[in-house]
Amino acid sequence: MKSVITGTGIGIPKNVVTNDDLAKIMDTSDEWIRTRSGVEERRYADDGEGSADLGMVAAHDAMEAAGVTPADIDCVIFATMTPNYFFPGNGPIVQAKMGFAEIPTFDIRQQCSGFLYAFDLADSLIQSRKFKRLLVIGADVHTPLMPWQRGWNIALGTEQREITREEFEFNTRYRDRTVLFGDGAGAMIVEASENGDRGLLAAKLYTNGSNIDALYMKGGSAQRPIFRAEQIESGELIPVMEGRAVFKEAVSRMPDAVRKVCEAAGVAVNDIDVLIIHQANLRIVEGVTKQLGLSPAKVPHNIERYGNTTAGTLPILYHECVADGRIQPGMLVCFTALGSGLHWGAALYRT
Ligand code: ACO
Repeated sequence: MKSVITGTGIGIPKNVVTNDDLAKIMDTSDEWIRTRSGVEERRYADDGEGSADLGMVAAHDAMEAAGVTPADIDCVIFATMTPNYFFPGNGPIVQAKMGFAEIPTFDIRQQCSGFLYAFDLADSLIQSRKFKRLLVIGADVHTPLMPWQRGWNIALGTEQREITREEFEFNTRYRDRTVLFGDGAGAMIVEASENGDRGLLAAKLYTNGSNIDALYMKGGSAQRPIFRAEQIESGELIPVMEGRAVFKEAVSRMPDAVRKVCEAAGVAVNDIDVLIIHQANLRIVEGVTKQLGLSPAKVPHNIERYGNTTAGTLPILYHECVADGRIQPGMLVCFTALGSGLHWGAALYRT
């Protein structure tokens, strides 16, 4: 028995924010962002539109593509680091709003590797014969993590005024990370199939928490109260990222995971037809492609249009490649990601 993807969908917010839009509110440029990261534009969710909301749009389309209704789904797994509420997670929101029976829902938070973990978890639940058909969602909404009170509506075009010098300087302090992220969601229906070779072949997942400080966000149960007003004012609650350190980990850990998963499945790296790699930085995508000796034609990317959508990137990219024919039946697809934790890994899938 194998776990197969029978439908996919995406949930992309309507607001397009270009690099030039961001240059209105901080000291940055289209040229810097393009050359250092590959991002050209990203989407921002509306105020009031959370990751659960984008996830439900993706889930609706995935169910339609698979030809199933909520009554056919046994379980939901929602991967996000930005749930609508601190608690509960997004699973109960999806269950109630989409009209599912009182099925179990899991929320998991492995950041940029969230969807990879969710996919492997879905497979494990299928292999254990606990469930036959799962809805797996990966979604993140990063805009609330940005210093929004300091003129960000100007970038969005919903506020017409000049940014103040103080706001501009404050926003510039966080330019190395805020320019990279966008909001988005992807979803898949994953189900048990006895049908030959198709399905998830192998997955390798890893965690190393020895350098959490390289990529994390403050606030939480170890401080009192959980979030403090002065932390918001000082910018302490904006995620911290040591870009170079994470970059170095990404270009070594992902190729290693891809090699190991190929070994586990008994295939050569060069047998991979399409590498669906986490979209954090185009230079990371290119670095991993080179390290693995893969042709760039096998490694699609959409970071130029969405930036890094964290748990959304793998299912969004997979969906787009299926939709435009870059992924065809019978192909060997490898998923790989690395993110905060650090969590990383790879999974091999035969379409
Ligand atoms: N615009 C203009 N200049 C900038 C910007 C910006 N947006 N951001 C930084 N700079 C400046 C810096 O201040 C620095 O200036 P200095 O030389 O005068 O000090 C200069 O540009 C170079 O900065 P670096 O940090 O060295 O730039 P680098 O080429 O390393 O790129 C980046 C930075 C894009 C963050 C890169 O390191 C990166 O992508 N890292 C990995 C990110 C990642 O993978 N994250 C994981 C996923 S996220 C998750 O899990 C939630």
